[in-house]
Amino acid sequence: MNILVTGGAGFIGSHTLVELYRAGHTAVVVDNLSNANREALNRVAEIIGLQEPIPFHHMDIRDRKGLEYVMQKSHFDACIHFAGLKAVGESVAKPWEYYENNIGGTLVLLDVLRHNGCKNIIFSSSATVYGDPAQIPITEECPKGHCTNPYGQTKSMLEEIMRDMQHADKEWNVVLLRYFNPIGAHPSGRIGEDPKGIPNNLMPYVTQVAVGKLKELGVFGNDYDTPDGTGVRDYIHVVDLARGHVKALQAIERNCGLAIYNLGTGHGYSVLDMVKAFEHANGIKIPYSIKPRRAGDIATCYSNPAKAERELGWHAEYDLDDMCRDAWNWQKNNPEGYGEDNDTEQ
Ligand code: NAD
Ligand code: WQD
Repeated sequence: MNILVTGGAGFIGSHTLVELYRAGHTAVVVDNLSNANREALNRVAEIIGLQEPIPFHHMDIRDRKGLEYVMQKSHFDACIHFAGLKAVGESVAKPWEYYENNIGGTLVLLDVLRHNGCKNIIFSSSATVYGDPAQIPITEECPKGHCTNPYGQTKSMLEEIMRDMQHADKEWNVVLLRYFNPIGAHPSGRIGEDPKGIPNNLMPYVTQVAVGKLKELGVFGNDYDTPDGTGVRDYIHVVDLARGHVKALQAIERNCGLAIYNLGTGHGYSVLDMVKAFEHANGIKIPYSIKPRRAGDIATCYSNPAKAERELGWHAEYDLDDMCRDAWNWQKNNPEGYGEDNDTEQ
């Protein structure tokens, strides 16, 4: 299939491109590079051994005319929609920007897709839509909860928008993938997560401590109702997550209508488990100290991924050791990530 990949230069998008090409698909990327670097796409082409670059439009999904142009130039069988802003704390400080980018952008995208006859979409949703989950492990039937931040609200609202559109027009196939906590990097060490500024998420913070860019990890709270008092999450290797998208395309080929899947491993690890696993996998000590809880955090969040196994034939294959090894392999080989991106060409 030929796939329109929005946000394809980003962390999950770049890894998904590798898996798409490996499975025999082709892709065209639209990304405004607000949180990515063009170099990621060069490296994707290098990993898959492409002679020519991945087709790329440096463009914002809110640019209707630009998207129309892209859609008219090629035929697309489906869209995988990663593009969006994702920093939870920033979304609390800049709610309008998050609603406008994530919801405004997706509305333009959906409209251009349908008017150009592409009614197949895979959307990057998040475990955040469950809020403080009503049950653990979380199945897809678990009711959506109250999201404590605008970022989470955009995911929850966009799910509803796409659900309603699919309900009104059965030509749509909509796959909502609720990611748990993606970490790690491609085993080649050529692509990985490249957060701007001080990382918000646990694993990039740990790797930056390991590489000496940050002094110590702050562990946000050790008084949660969990085995060691620190927060428990379902960390998933980004390559496993990427492969979930290839499986979701097969669901679209089977005309799945609306389908929702958790993409997680089904295992919960605490912050201190993660520190120990990283130290064990890489032989590097991670200094840490206990800090107050972070606003909006929940104690425990992990998936029941059985539906994805049953219906998509997908399950996570990499374990925690692999995730820690690959995260470090990326960081140590690219201490400055992809480096400066001065690319302003549109
Ligand atoms: P990322 O920031 O690396 O990738 C998002 C990409 O979208 C970036 O390359 C950015 O430049 C681009 N982008 C943002 N707004 C755009 C716009 N208006 N037009 C064009 N491009 C735009 O993030 P990621 O971790 O790869 O996440 C991909 C998707 O998955 C996001 O929608 C995110 O919300 C979702 N998600 C991520 C996580 C996670 O922990 N990483 C978890 C759940 C869901
Ligand atoms: C994991 C655990 C922290 C950093 C976020 C978003 C969620 C999704 C994934 C997009 C928690 C603790 C963290 C640190 C720490 N993203 N921690 N010190 O909060 O589960 O999920 O990313 O959809 O929407 O909310 O991930 O990696 O930030 O935190 O102790 O410096 O690590 O308190 O228990 P989280 P995280």
